[in-house]
Amino acid sequence: LLHPPHSRDLAGVKVVVSAGPTREYLDPVRFISNPSSGKMGFAVAEEARDRGADVTLVTGPVNLPDPPGVDVVRIETALELRDAVLAAARDAQMVVMTAAVADYRAAERSDEKQAKVAGDVTIHLTPNPDILAELGRQKGDRVLVGFAMETHAGVERAALKAQRKNADFILLNYPTREGTAFGGDDNEVTLVRPDGTSEAWPRLSKREVARRLLDEAARVRQKAES
Ligand code: CTP
Ligand code: CA
Repeated sequence: LLHPPHSRDLAGVKVVVSAGPTREYLDPVRFISNPSSGKMGFAVAEEARDRGADVTLVTGPVNLPDPPGVDVVRIETALELRDAVLAAARDAQMVVMTAAVADYRAAERSDEKQAKVAGDVTIHLTPNPDILAELGRQKGDRVLVGFAMETHAGVERAALKAQRKNADFILLNYPTREGTAFGGDDNEVTLVRPDGTSEAWPRLSKREVARRLLDEAARVRQKAES
């Protein structure tokens, strides 16, 4: 399916995008994290900007420069991500959560570096808030988009996630495909809606995935308006 060029179809629309990993510190020099590169979220932010949107990009630590013309907020922890996304989302019409949010943080973060001890140690973790689900509880007519990585039963699990979090759709990917997802420049995703319907997209550049994602978000928005 060929899409027409979009020029400035998102002019006047405020879009919030989250990207990258979070870091959950155990002490000042150690943290739990994941290998998210941020490329997918940066691609969404740049595509939205080029289509005229007013874009806020909230990102965890990644090796990517601030995209010109985008409001960039750099955070480290899931709690910081939550505060920044909720604040930016207040007057936004679309929120796209590509961030790989750590599900847990240390129950107690030590202010001092912990010395090693002989033998095993146990780390007590506590759940982080689910930012997408929080946005879903105060959804209004905002379009909410999530990402999910699954190793199995992807479409079913992603549809349940979309339902549970009240997201309009989720882009599902798999960690195993060469050159995609974590770190790659391409992505191979399946669009999954809360009603269980899905659409497998071919392997595309992350920028092209961003373009189709925003096409779908714009369609959801138009449907809500009509
Ligand atoms: N997400 C979020 N806040 C969290 C965890 C996830 O906003 N604390 C968002 C992610 O940014 C993503 C979507 O929710 O857009 C799905 O993330 P995922 O990790 O697949 O979902 P979880 O509910 O954490 O489920 P799982 O147990 O499979 O990790
Ligand atoms: Ca998770």
